[in-house]
Parts: sequence; C-alpha cells; structure tokens
Amino acid sequence: MRSSIKTVDFLIIGGGVAGLRAAIEVAPVGSVIVLTKDMPAESSTGYAQGGIAVALSDEDKVGIHYEDTIKAGDGLCNKDAVKVLVEEGPELILELISWGAEFDKEGSKLAFTQEAAHSRRRILHAQGDSTGWELERVLINKVRTFKSVSRYDFAFTVDLIIKDDRCAGAIILRDRKAIHIYAKATILATGGAGQLYSRTTNPAVTTGDGMAIAYRAGAVLQDMEFIQFHPTTLYSPSAPQFLLSEAMRGEGAILKNIHGERFMPRYHTLAELAPRDIVSRAIISEMVRTNAKHVYLDLTHLDKNFVKGRFPRIYSTCLQFDIDITEDLIPVSPAAHYVMGGVKTNLKGETDIKGLFATGEVACTGVHGANRLASNSLLEGLVYGARAGMSAGEYMNKGQERIQDTRFRIQDKINRASCIMDRASLLHAPSFDTVKIKSTLRRLMWEKVGIIRCKESLNAAREWLRKWDSILKADFTSRERLELKNMLTVANLIVDSALLREGSIGAHYRSDFKERGENWQRHVISQKEKGLQRADA
Ligand code: SIN
Repeated sequence: MRSSIKTVDFLIIGGGVAGLRAAIEVAPVGSVIVLTKDMPAESSTGYAQGGIAVALSDEDKVGIHYEDTIKAGDGLCNKDAVKVLVEEGPELILELISWGAEFDKEGSKLAFTQEAAHSRRRILHAQGDSTGWELERVLINKVRTFKSVSRYDFAFTVDLIIKDDRCAGAIILRDRKAIHIYAKATILATGGAGQLYSRTTNPAVTTGDGMAIAYRAGAVLQDMEFIQFHPTTLYSPSAPQFLLSEAMRGEGAILKNIHGERFMPRYHTLAELAPRDIVSRAIISEMVRTNAKHVYLDLTHLDKNFVKGRFPRIYSTCLQFDIDITEDLIPVSPAAHYVMGGVKTNLKGETDIKGLFATGEVACTGVHGANRLASNSLLEGLVYGARAGMSAGEYMNKGQERIQDTRFRIQDKINRASCIMDRASLLHAPSFDTVKIKSTLRRLMWEKVGIIRCKESLNAAREWLRKWDSILKADFTSRERLELKNMLTVANLIVDSALLREGSIGAHYRSDFKERGENWQRHVISQKEKGLQRADA
C-alpha cells in the first residue's frame, strides 16, 4: 500500500457539530484538517430532528435547565460539566444565529417545543424537524470562511500515532493510500456507536471508531454501559428505521398498543413525556404483553395542517412508505440512539493522553450521567466542541517546539511501521465474512445487551464475542474490516461494563438487579493496560 506523510497543527476527526465547532475555534490560530470517513455532512448531527435544548425562553432559566439535566442523569452527572453546558449554551446559540442559523419562530420570537423530562418548553428547532441539517449547514459554511481549514472526506482513521505518551496525530486510509498525519493536537469528534445494534436511529457511519482507537491508544473510557434507546422509531419491514422525534409526543402524540389502548399513564405520571428509558421499557412490556413487534404512535387527534407544518420531513418520509401520519397510526418500536459513556475528558475536552482531545458523543464529560436529557447533545457539541478547540489551541502554543522535534524523530519509524502494517495485514489477515459478523454482532447486542439486560444475557454475549477475539488483534487495510474491529472493541467494552454494574440506573436496566445496587455512584472505567475498574464519581 502506498503511504505518505502530512503535517498540520490541528487534526479533527469527525465533521458533526462538535468537530466543526472545534474547527472554528482553532482555525484562526493554525492549520486544520477535518477528517470525515464518509461524505462531509454524514454524521448523527445531520439526522437530529427534535432540536437543541437551551434556556432562552422567557419562562426558562439556566438553573431550571440544570436541574432537569441532573434529574435525567439519575445521580451520575458531573455537576460542573452540566453547569458549563447550561450556562455557556445560550451565548453559543446566539452566536450560531449571528452566523445565519434560522430557528423556527412564532411571530418575531424563537419557538420552543417540549420534549420528555424537560420542565419547560426549551427546544429550538429548524424547518420543523430538520434541526441537525440546519446546524451542519451553518457550521460547514462558517468553516469554509477559514483558508486554514482543509477537509479530507472518505478518510478512515486506522489508529492514533502515540509517541512518548503523547498523541502526535493519526494514520488514515484514503484512496487506498495510508497517510500519516502529524498534528500538534488531535481532536476526536467521531460520534457514537449506534450501529452496534440491529435497531438504531443512527446513520451507518456510527461504528464506535473514536472510542475504539482511543482505547487502543491507551485512553481512559468511562461508563460504556449507558446506552440510550429512543422509544419511537418507525417499525415497518419495508421502511428504514426512521426516527420519530420525541417532539411529536411533546406536541401531543400518544402511544397505543396494538389493541388501540393508550398505555403510558399506567407506567408513569408523566405518561408519554416520562424519561426515555421508562418509555422504552414500557413499550417493550406492552409488546411482550400483546405479543406484538411494535406499538403505535398516534397523532390523528391533532390538527392535520399543524402536524404537516410542524413535522414536514417526518410527514413526507412516512408518506413514501404509505403512512399518512395525519390519518394513520404509526407503527413504532425503540432503537439504540446515544452512548452516554465514551472517552473520558475533563471540562476542557482533555483526555488522559496529552495532545488528544475528545468532544461530542465520542466523549464522556459526565454531562449526561446515566441518561441524557433529550436535545442536550447538539448543545453539548457546540459548548464542548468550542472548549476542546480552545484547549487544543492552548496546548499547541505551549508545546509546539517539543512536539515538532518528536515528529522528525519518529518519521522513519512510522514509515517502517506502515510497511510492517501492510505485510502483516496481507500475511495474517484472518479470513472471515465481515458482513455476516457485523450482522450477527448487531443482533447479539440488540438481544443480549439491549434495553433490558441480565447476567445471563451479558455472559452469553461475552461468550459470542470471544469467538471473534482474533479480529481484535489483526491489522486491516479496508474500511469495512477496520469498522468491524472497532465495533467489536466497543461491544466488548459495553458488555464488560454492563456486567460490572450490578444495579439498574438511568438507561442501564438489569432485570437481575432492579435496584441501584451498592456503590452505584461510582463510575466504570475501562483502560487497555489496566482493564476494568470502578472509580469514585
Ligand atoms: C428526537 O428528536 O427525539 C431526538 C432528540 C434527541 O435525542 O436529543
């Protein structure tokens, strides 16, 4: 395989809201490469419908947003991280508006919608249900105004370059060529890992790459057992697993079982607007009780024109599959949606590896605790993306000389390593059916490590994963196989963390430990060298 070397001040891996916001922060102070493994806007951000939570309405206060976030996190939020989120959020949203973001309005005022577990209407949205696209549009346009930023699309990150315990960039694959990108600071913004599950709201790119490469490099990951399942995705054999925004329930949609009975009031006083984990489990219970593969979301009692105008994308997408959401009940079931855990960072986005920063869903600042409050993730991407960018800038200014020396010293070694990688992958690449294993893995995770887990199901998953251990140790030179290796790495981390947490908290529900369990306030920490540990909150 051909290989080459590039140098840059800042390498940003990922082009969603967090990566782009970080790029905007560092662009004035150095050269930047933004890598995406697919098309430029292909990220979870683009698919976000409901919106972005922010305490900007007349009836709201940052203190109330703080309380709601802490409550949703079920006792495991990092309170300082939440404070930063809710306090810095409003200014960053106003900045986004000054860059051209067009959020929906009622008259001359911003329009706020309601979502589960928010005690105020505080969710901004754009074009009804296309909030993520609007954010991507504005941020991509803003990034384009900086000549210092280059974009590498369809560039897959193989691994981080670690030298003298610091991150010096990454090895990437692009156009069948290995490129060693040396960077003075590297920011991971690769998003989540929804593709580990057979039912997910996430796009195909979410294979846990950033979590896996950070783990292989020796970074600390935290709370990987906390996977959030969104209660309502379209369930139809002929349609994709399309998200049906929580904002629909916020505007009055109700859930019914296959017999047409509303069931949520039996499960929680907040009914359809109960926290997500409760709604998802209630749906599963109803599906089991009625021996059905789905329940229904019902908007037929709402004004037709309002529904069409408020959810234009959902309306037109469902219509393509012969479901008119203004007239028909919509078959729905839950799907994997968001990873609360991830690469552990402090409030500046710094990981345990010098020179490596992480932000957005790949990171675990502790802002979401054990369960994320709806629509807080786009806000997190803005706030902590900017923060990670700012600290990467500070880091570069402090350590520039030393890092440049490192780059020249290791250049030859890296060249040699590249040849070795090629030979190893050709000689020792195990032969297996990548597509088949990915599909088996997704079903395994859904069935054994899903919304309801227990020791038996987790151990069964562990046994299966062992069969694929050789893949974790091999080197590959194709995106498909590298993705599989990353998915298996992250699956192992989720299963081990879920086994260690013998208790139910937030989105992690163990049918064999229904209470919180002892020491529930401790975090589960994973690190390659040290294995799995519990750590004080
Ligand atoms: C939704 O629109 O329901 C998704 C919002 C979120 O997950 O934050």
